[in-house]
Amino acid sequence: MRPERVLLASPRGYCAGVDRAVETVERALELYGPPVYVRKEIVHNKHVVETLRKRGAVFVDDENEVPEGEVVVFSAHGVAPSVQENARRRRLRTIDATCPLVTKVHVEARKFAAEGYTIVLIGHEGHEEVEGTMGEAPDHIVLVETEEDVDALEVEDPERVAYLTQTTLSVDETKRIIQRLRERFPNVVGPKSDDICYATTNRQMAVRELARQCDLVLVIGSRNSSNSNRLVEVARAHGAEAHLIDNESQVREEWLEGKRVVGITSGASAPEELVQRLVAWFRARGVDQVEELRTVEENVRFMLPREIRKALAERE
Ligand code: F3S
Repeated sequence: MRPERVLLASPRGYCAGVDRAVETVERALELYGPPVYVRKEIVHNKHVVETLRKRGAVFVDDENEVPEGEVVVFSAHGVAPSVQENARRRRLRTIDATCPLVTKVHVEARKFAAEGYTIVLIGHEGHEEVEGTMGEAPDHIVLVETEEDVDALEVEDPERVAYLTQTTLSVDETKRIIQRLRERFPNVVGPKSDDICYATTNRQMAVRELARQCDLVLVIGSRNSSNSNRLVEVARAHGAEAHLIDNESQVREEWLEGKRVVGITSGASAPEELVQRLVAWFRARGVDQVEELRTVEENVRFMLPREIRKALAERE
């Protein structure tokens, strides 16, 4: 048996923060001409980074690699205040493409730190967003990744503990970690529920429904994309075989054996073009039933960074 039907999750792919970050680099290239430096990958997607690189974006790991006076874009994942300061000192022309929903977490971190809380940040070690958020109050924030990490926590004052979360975590797992925090620190405070963003929540909800109706789920996204990895986990947890792929060239024929319905979704940093290429790949193999499985409607849009809006207004 070979696949007969393809179901596309909706919503999937680009979120408002990624859309804004990618457009920021495109606009910066148009306004200032290449090279435009970008600190870290603008979003965690190989295809996007390669496309922008070809157009003149230069990706660097550190702001110290950017020549003085040049334009540098900060990625959607956000940066620590020390990075901003260093860029100022080096007289770089910065454009901040940090997602506003990440900025919101930074603001919460500053607020809790100023009020004397120990902040427990739920997130993944080494992720750029976590590095940026922790940089807001390095002496006040501790990172936990699991419920066991919560059990091992030692804090100065158990009555003054706050929590925050990375924006791209697993909704279910994060609930469990927060619950464990509440058991250990009954007076713990935090955001209303967590900081997981609307796009992460919606894509996980959509893939859960997809997994229920498919034998196999293919998630388009890069290895270092946190939210894409979570989509694979959620699909597996809801009964489907699931794989993360960069593009159609990574589909293995053996995955398709015995599968009737294949679900496709994409991480918040994966462009729709890659989904359509994968659909065309299935169509070329005789699958002509392609349908969308709608769960929630999204209409979130963010304004471009102030620096870009100002430059565009001056040009007109
Ligand atoms: Fe922002 Fe969420 Fe996208 S934090 S960059 S809207 S995945």
